[in-house]
Amino acid sequence: MNTESQKKIAAEKATEDVRSGMVVGLGTGSTVYYALLKLGAMVREGLDIVGIPTSEGTEKIAFAEKIPLTTLATHPTIDLTIDGADEVDAHLNLIKGGGAALVREKIIANASKEILIVVDESKVSRVLGTTFSLPVEIVRFGWEATQTEVNRICGKSTLRQNTSQDGDGSPLITDNGNYILDCHFDGIPAPQAVEMQLNNIPGVVENGIFVNRADKVIIGTASGIRYME
Ligand code: 5RP
Repeated sequence: MNTESQKKIAAEKATEDVRSGMVVGLGTGSTVYYALLKLGAMVREGLDIVGIPTSEGTEKIAFAEKIPLTTLATHPTIDLTIDGADEVDAHLNLIKGGGAALVREKIIANASKEILIVVDESKVSRVLGTTFSLPVEIVRFGWEATQTEVNRICGKSTLRQNTSQDGDGSPLITDNGNYILDCHFDGIPAPQAVEMQLNNIPGVVENGIFVNRADKVIIGTASGIRYME
């Protein structure tokens, strides 16, 4: 099974836990995309849910799929969130933010009773921060000074560029109007400490380390589905 099929089976498996009456957190990314398509089909067949998107991109897809949407103001508690990840370790710690949605994803995660993470097998790693650079969202004002402080922790970081189809190579601006630094760690053996250290720096909005958030990781592999709980 190729990577795309692995993403699809993991994402579709997660939708099996969605029941009528639920408030569902809708993650961001190419893996969750398959869950959104499946949820759209389920809604059209009568599933009665409301979704809260983690990004403007997801909001557009959910709207096109006719998944009814709500907000945290109306529904402050989310029953179940389905989201992706860029790197997952054996303790279910995650790096997220490859899709630049980490701030809203962490807010949604924090409001969720249950979180399912859907990935293909390439995302599983022994030590976090060895296969993916850690995204850190920072405010634009004084960003160079913030980067200097961030580099004291990670060594080296890169300001993310807008390389999407219509992107012109200028710095990427998040849905919240901020920049992203991609921080090149050589492994993050103590993710919780690093999560807190980074968030202590003035100018840092949030970082992509998610510790003790995921309840279950659904992994699409070449030979089928595997779980980490
Ligand atoms: C977005 C995220 C995504 O969930 C993460 O980047 C995984 O994306 P994909 O499924 O496309 O690999 O954290 O901010």
